[in-house]
Amino acid sequence: MSSAADGCVLVIFGASGDLTRRKLLPAVFNLIESGHLPDRFAILGVARPVIDEASFRAQMHERVAEIEGEPLDTDKWKRIEERLHYISGEFNDPALYASLAQALGDLTRRHSIPPNVLFYFAIPPDLFGTVARHLADAGLAVETGGWRRVIVEKPFGYDLESARALNAELAAGLQESQIYRIDHYLGKETVQNILAFRFANGIFEPTWNRRYVDHVQMTVAEEAGVEGRGAYYDKAGALRDMVQNHMFQLLTLVAMEPPISFRAEDVRNEKVKVLHAVQPFDDGDVRQHVVRAHYGGYTKEPNVSPSSRTETFTAMRLMIDSWRWAGVPFYLRTGKRMRRRWTEIAVQFKTAPYMLFRETPVECTNPNVLVLRIQPDEGISLSFDAKVPGPLERLATVTMNFSYAEYFKEEPSTGYETLLFDAMTGDQTLFHRMDIVEAGWQVVDPILRAWQRDTISALPVYPPNSDGPVDVDRLLERDGRRWRS
Ligand code: BG6
Repeated sequence: MSSAADGCVLVIFGASGDLTRRKLLPAVFNLIESGHLPDRFAILGVARPVIDEASFRAQMHERVAEIEGEPLDTDKWKRIEERLHYISGEFNDPALYASLAQALGDLTRRHSIPPNVLFYFAIPPDLFGTVARHLADAGLAVETGGWRRVIVEKPFGYDLESARALNAELAAGLQESQIYRIDHYLGKETVQNILAFRFANGIFEPTWNRRYVDHVQMTVAEEAGVEGRGAYYDKAGALRDMVQNHMFQLLTLVAMEPPISFRAEDVRNEKVKVLHAVQPFDDGDVRQHVVRAHYGGYTKEPNVSPSSRTETFTAMRLMIDSWRWAGVPFYLRTGKRMRRRWTEIAVQFKTAPYMLFRETPVECTNPNVLVLRIQPDEGISLSFDAKVPGPLERLATVTMNFSYAEYFKEEPSTGYETLLFDAMTGDQTLFHRMDIVEAGWQVVDPILRAWQRDTISALPVYPPNSDGPVDVDRLLERDGRRWRS
């Protein structure tokens, strides 16, 4: 982030919801602190509850302080508060959009803001199309004089068909260049750093392929369970909630070819090719190379069906059909209520072709592993074998480590700061393009369908605070490999 974004109004649909107080306002708060927000800026909250502006401001103050865990800096809050406005209404009522147009006119005049508007859809997905249509009908999506952009929260559809329908609904009122499909993983510094690591350094890329890489393991483990989101989660499950979006984004960044530039379309063109190259799953592959399970006690969570077969854990082996990756398995696993919170990508290299050290046969050496630690303990490490001091030719594995916290001394942000800033500056690089969303669904759809057809086999249950179900080990053992722990 280099300078302040364009002056604009941020309109948040769903302003009374959890996302606004948990992520969006704290992110705006941080952007003010870092000087990246323009002076000519206002936030307009839109939601159903009929409350006046003063009560909305008071509620937001209380909730953001709750999330920050400490009293808010008075001056900074004042800067937000004087720009924080609210209107209420029903999202399917044209009258709301007339009030919105009126409010936007008032605000841009009052705060001397250029006619740029960033609409944030922090609303349930079944309302995305409705709100987009109403914005278009009310003439609020037309870019005359200033820009109009829309940030859409996940989930983008429930499967390939519904994702296509949603994309078509959005496309009816908006240009693709106006649509910013957000994935908060792409806002994480460590995720963005994958591109810097691969393409700003000369020494890694030559080894980043099937000649040198044995396999890649990607882990997104959470300690938390469904945390009061049972109603949503029980319909989604880990495959839809984490794999189709966040994990596939990690996969594309690790596996993509170097783009010809860092312009949004060049980067996104390379990313989508990775998903198109994933070998499609048939029913046999799903049985053999995909694991699902839920944690003990999941079916007793509030708003979860007692007979639920929804997975809170899934793991799979993916193959990418490209010259770079042919024959290199990518193992993905993600779960809730795991032993610890832990997101990383481990690139395991092939072992040395033969061993000079007589005391250590080649099969006893450890392969080099490059680990991109996404969270917590953000950093990168590389392990390699070194000679143990002394007269004997003995080897031990040692690790070279880079830690963000130690080196840059910066607190990791929510990820929303970068994404809001990018949307305000018109940079779509870190947002999903329509075809990327559909390509992701194309990969997981056969798995979802196979699971749907299978209503009889028992769904494995894993103990909370564990590494997942036992079956997950088999996924790698079959290939003579083991998960990192
Ligand atoms: C969200 C999922 O997109 O990501 C949640 O819906 C999940 O289920 C969350 O807990 C994980 O995000 P993070 O940033 O904590 O890894």
